[in-house]
Amino acid sequence: MLIDKDGVLEISGVKSTHLANEFGTPLLVLDEVQIRENIKKLKSAFESVDYNNYEIAYASKAFLNTELCGILQSENVSLEVVSGGEFYIAFHNSFPANKIFFNGNSKTNEELVMVLENDVGHIIVDNEDEFRNIEKISKRLRKKTKIYFRVIPNITPDTHEYISTGQKNSKFGMPFDEILKLIKSIKNSENLEIKGIHAHIGSQINESGPDVELVKTFFDLLNKIREETGAVLPEIDIGGGFSVAHSTFEKAIDIQDAIKGVIQEVRFLSSKFHYPSPKIIVEPGRYIISRAGTTLSAQSREQKIKNMWLLMEAWLIILGLHCMVQNMRYLLQIDQNIQST
Ligand SMILES: Cc1ncc(COP(=O)(O)O)c(C=O)c1O
Repeated sequence: MLIDKDGVLEISGVKSTHLANEFGTPLLVLDEVQIRENIKKLKSAFESVDYNNYEIAYASKAFLNTELCGILQSENVSLEVVSGGEFYIAFHNSFPANKIFFNGNSKTNEELVMVLENDVGHIIVDNEDEFRNIEKISKRLRKKTKIYFRVIPNITPDTHEYISTGQKNSKFGMPFDEILKLIKSIKNSENLEIKGIHAHIGSQINESGPDVELVKTFFDLLNKIREETGAVLPEIDIGGGFSVAHSTFEKAIDIQDAIKGVIQEVRFLSSKFHYPSPKIIVEPGRYIISRAGTTLSAQSREQKIKNMWLLMEAWLIILGLHCMVQNMRYLLQIDQNIQST
């Protein structure tokens, strides 16, 4: 994305004025070249440290539509969904259900039945009630469901409190002891296969430190599980949260550096505890889509009340969350060349 010599915003070589005039505004533009580039950078962060046992599951809460389902599939990227609606979009766009991770802390019974009847690949268990439900539905459907447990890691990264999700009082996941208790309660289950553990500690994290901390916490839990139940879990899912700079006031993570830090710690702890190197799952949302999406909005009118206000066509429904999160700032590109539509 760049501003050309005439001051017009260009998205992968296409002038925004051209798009606005052809399709009208407000217009959400997704830059496929940029999406593929972001995925490539993530993959090469793993491959540059020779760690090929990894899986990228795009966090579809960030954005999902038909085209994106196709792009992700062609890039061999999996999906993390947190609602029946997201699962429905993916499924109806022929996204393979076995590459979908169903996450979230308030899954309804109907959603669980829907995803299980349609052979969802993995479910991330958030709490005991849900765990019992999954067990019951899997039994009724005669399925063996692959599950992960979401743990509260008690890590507070340096990010906005509204998007911090791994602290002690987090409403996402369970404490260590509860997970251990559940694992013990289903030893040799015919309907559940425990694949690993998961946490997402927050978003817009611009350094590797908190994820390295998370890996240490995961190994504590993996070791405890092995000691107390004999189970060796083969996967860890460290969530998303890799920061992007929406403006010059925010710092983008160095993804190469961040992944390298995680892998070094995984290698170190695997070797220290003689624990088989786990498969690593990441769930990036913003990192893949944020800077690839642009909303083009024309000004609808001007109003002078004390200050001059420019009223736009696109407002709360598109920009609302950012306003509520309060710390976002925007650089507005005001382009006089767009004809009002
Ligand atoms: C469980 C989980 N995974 C992944 C993400 C994606 O986070 P981000 O967009 O910061 O990568 C989120 C965001 O809320 C999340 O809650």
